[in-house]
Amino acid sequence: MTPKRYLPSPDGRPVIVPSVLSADFSCLKTGLRGLEKCSGWVQLDVMDGHFVPNLSFGPHVASCLKAATPLALDAHLMVMRPDLFIRPFADSGAALITVHEEADADIPACLRKIRSLGLKAGLALRPRTPLSRALKHLGLIDLLLLMTVEPGFGGQSFLRGSLPKIAAARRAIAGSGRPVWLQVDGGINERTAPEAAAAGADSLVMGSALFSRPAPAAFACSLLKKLPGVSDHA
Ligand code: DX5
Repeated sequence: MTPKRYLPSPDGRPVIVPSVLSADFSCLKTGLRGLEKCSGWVQLDVMDGHFVPNLSFGPHVASCLKAATPLALDAHLMVMRPDLFIRPFADSGAALITVHEEADADIPACLRKIRSLGLKAGLALRPRTPLSRALKHLGLIDLLLLMTVEPGFGGQSFLRGSLPKIAAARRAIAGSGRPVWLQVDGGINERTAPEAAAAGADSLVMGSALFSRPAPAAFACSLLKKLPGVSDHA
């Protein structure tokens, strides 16, 4: 059994990452059942009501989520002070922690701290933040998350203006020769997932489009088969 802290390395094939922000927490175990057959890992959207105008989950929920699925856990910290939450989410069993470049913290120090704890490190950008502000940290990350909605809420529409940024990020990752996931998050569904994958994304976070369905796992597995592999130049 692969240890649940294990996060796979990118291999050119896209993965779907369920975001439980839109899941029914009264029956989370049921909602996640079967997703391990076709998902890379599961994402917990952590919100502090300051960095984004919404409040969500803490480390205890992360521990409960970890017990509810064999999937590894990705903690996406949409918080002003990610430095305060790295250790608690690492202790809750996260395999990957992603911090926002726009947060009020020493970002390189946060990324090094995450890796020093044996986890993979992710860096996220809001839609309007220039890609250059993440690329300078490319040597410190295992995942680059480009938000395709303004962070804070599920169920928003995909910002198609993000597609050139996704393609530019794919070219930069290819040029670096480093194994970095290119993750997109926000408005990913059966229509936008193929577009994002064709632009170069290989980790597709999906919340409302997945959990609004009676059989999330069947939908995710079927969609995954239709997604193109990653080419270095979209
Ligand atoms: C926004 C969240 C959402 C969520 C995915 O801060 O990060 O993007 O994970 O939500 P959907 O798939 O419903 O857009």
